[in-house]
Amino acid sequence: MGSELHENARTLVAEGKGILAADESDSTIKKRFDSIGVESTEDNRRFYRELLFTTPGVEEYISGVILFDETIRQSAEDGTPFPELLKERGIIPGIKVDKGAKPLALSEGETVTEGLDGLRERLAEYHELGARFTKWRATYSIGGGRPSEYCAWANAHALARYAALSQEAGCVPIVEPEVLMDGDHTIEESAKATGRALQAVYTELHDQRVDLYGTLLKPNMVLTGYDASGRADIEEVAEATLDCLYRHVPAAVPGIVFLSGGQTDEDATAHLNAMNAKGPHPWELSFSYGRALQAPALKAWGGDPANAEDAQKAFYRRAKFNGAARTGSYAPEMETAAV
Ligand code: 13P
Repeated sequence: MGSELHENARTLVAEGKGILAADESDSTIKKRFDSIGVESTEDNRRFYRELLFTTPGVEEYISGVILFDETIRQSAEDGTPFPELLKERGIIPGIKVDKGAKPLALSEGETVTEGLDGLRERLAEYHELGARFTKWRATYSIGGGRPSEYCAWANAHALARYAALSQEAGCVPIVEPEVLMDGDHTIEESAKATGRALQAVYTELHDQRVDLYGTLLKPNMVLTGYDASGRADIEEVAEATLDCLYRHVPAAVPGIVFLSGGQTDEDATAHLNAMNAKGPHPWELSFSYGRALQAPALKAWGGDPANAEDAQKAFYRRAKFNGAARTGSYAPEMETAAV
């Protein structure tokens, strides 16, 4: 079992490739569809996700797709179940298994992620449906003494319990501690909070016997708060993020797949590119973007099936640029060139 987990983890961070996060929960996909004036019906969600998964050539840059519970049970127009369709294209299907970040008791403004009850049984079913990796997201906010030690350890403990169960079920766990970049914090405060969250996570993963070679980490990048003035530039973000990772992430972890977390799609690509340009590093540095891969496609689609091809082209472009950022060979000029 160990070697299959190790192999799948490495395949997900193969050279030039990364992960598409298409695991928006019902409430999150509704927000995305609201932004383009499209009603979030089951069929619209199915159509939109089929459009992404069948984009010609995208498997050159996409190694895995994270699905949501509804999506892993859906099929393409021709009846092929989505996990099957992805596998046929050489893309590994994955699944979000957490049940969302809920208020942390007795700690104003903090959250703990739920979903451990019944997780062993759900994982067995997802594995049967074809999933070979999973995701669990914890969130932390900055400011007013947050994140607290209590929040850091409660989430780390849950992340490690999830990761151990996922490995037991034969699925690579993507461990996602996301320090939110909302607020006016400095980049130094962001580095401190991110480092604290990561250190607790790796202590718990070790104590709960998780095999790090069969895991991936999905962290935030270390940014200045979105509401702050005097924001750190691309180089500063790359340096601060790398410094934080070098201090807190063991080299046994095969890959680090960043979330985009509300950055513009171009910033998310440029930051990843700058970090890889400073390589080689002990781990592969890749992407597991949701918004930063989908935003242009969502806009181009706008809910009209006649725009499906344009939307696929927009998705292909972002996937290709992020693929280039995996080797530090992305340049902003590519944004205006024909693909
Ligand atoms: P974003 O890249 O839009 O932050 O989404 C990634 C994700 O899966 C968050 O859990």
